[in-house]
Amino acid sequence: MNVLITGNNGYIGSILTRVLLDRGYQVTGFDTGYYRGCEFDSYAYPQVKQIHKDIRKMTKDDLKGVDAVIHLAALSNDPLGAFDTRLTEDINFLATVRLAEIAKGMGIRRFIYASSCSLYGIAGEEAVTENSPLAPVTEYAISKVKSEEALTRMVDDTFSPVFLRASTVYGIAPMLRCDLVVNNLVGWAYTTGKIRIMSDGTPWRPTIHIEDLSQAYLACLECPIDMVHNQAFNVGQNKENYQIRDMANIAKKIIPGCEVEYTYEHGSDSRTYKVSFDKIFARLGQYYQPAWDVEKGMRQLYQAYKNHGLTLEEFIGNKYIRINQLKSLVTQKAISESLFWRN
Ligand SMILES: NC(=O)c1ccc[n+]([C@@H]2O[C@H](COP(=O)([O-])OP(=O)(O)OC[C@H]3O[C@@H](n4cnc5c(N)ncnc54)[C@H](O)[C@@H]3O)[C@@H](O)[C@H]2O)c1
Repeated sequence: MNVLITGNNGYIGSILTRVLLDRGYQVTGFDTGYYRGCEFDSYAYPQVKQIHKDIRKMTKDDLKGVDAVIHLAALSNDPLGAFDTRLTEDINFLATVRLAEIAKGMGIRRFIYASSCSLYGIAGEEAVTENSPLAPVTEYAISKVKSEEALTRMVDDTFSPVFLRASTVYGIAPMLRCDLVVNNLVGWAYTTGKIRIMSDGTPWRPTIHIEDLSQAYLACLECPIDMVHNQAFNVGQNKENYQIRDMANIAKKIIPGCEVEYTYEHGSDSRTYKVSFDKIFARLGQYYQPAWDVEKGMRQLYQAYKNHGLTLEEFIGNKYIRINQLKSLVTQKAISESLFWRN
């Protein structure tokens, strides 16, 4: 089976591509390459057919011979969403709909969409399920909601989107991100001896290791299509919902001599959500068997940062913070204000 992965050169894509290749899939990558040069350590890009192109310029030709689509490409977090709201609409929402329309028109039925638990927004103390109301509070989260709704309207016997609402991802990958909470906390602890928390530490976040998330994508490719047809799945584990301050305390336990510091820059962060993962275990439990928890993931990160010799300058620079890299490309005039490469 030939699977087209958009955004395959990003954080999740860099692990997911390898997981699919190891499992015997043929992979076609589609990515504009915003984070080229941001590799963590040296990274031998997998030998796949690679289409270097902007998702907004996708055509039928790009999907020739493709049997299933995994759609990851996006401006992938809240700061990027706030950078220019029009771009988030264009890249995360309109380009998603266009891609889905092309795929459906070409008879590609299996379409796996990288959604996010952030679409629950402010959700209180009760764990939200896939049927809970959506309350997105950022442009990024709004773009995920609108995409899910638009793809759902396209559903019929020939088109079966599935929405993987991933928890906040952590763990080492060749295309590392340090703007994700677990990776970030360990980075502060390792490079400064201080874990900096910008809020009061009370918000809840569900978490998932990048390899476990990749297994969920694989599950959606391998299960009978009727099991996932037009279904949303929260992806994570019930026991892996944490308050930020609890994550900080785990990091403190792992990294010798570090302290926790609350900066309150973001006040009491309004995005807080505790998520139920009962559905994915009930429906896809035979395919989805997560093996990680935050403590194990933090040990992996700490070891990798040590081996790499991560410096503070590198940690807070462009390489691993998505918004910094995009702003730098715009400043250098490598990409336009609309985020198209200039040549
Ligand atoms: N990382 C998380 O915690 C998390 C959680 C939930 C959902 N997600 C979703 O998973 C997907 C992948 O996330 P990630 O962490 O790997 O992000 P990432 O930023 O590391 O990777 C995104 C990739 O998409 C590519 N891309 C962006 N805009 C593009 C465009 N216009 N045309 C072509 N390619 C483009 C980038 O070059 C990059 O390689 C995103 O849709 C994100 O919203 C991520």
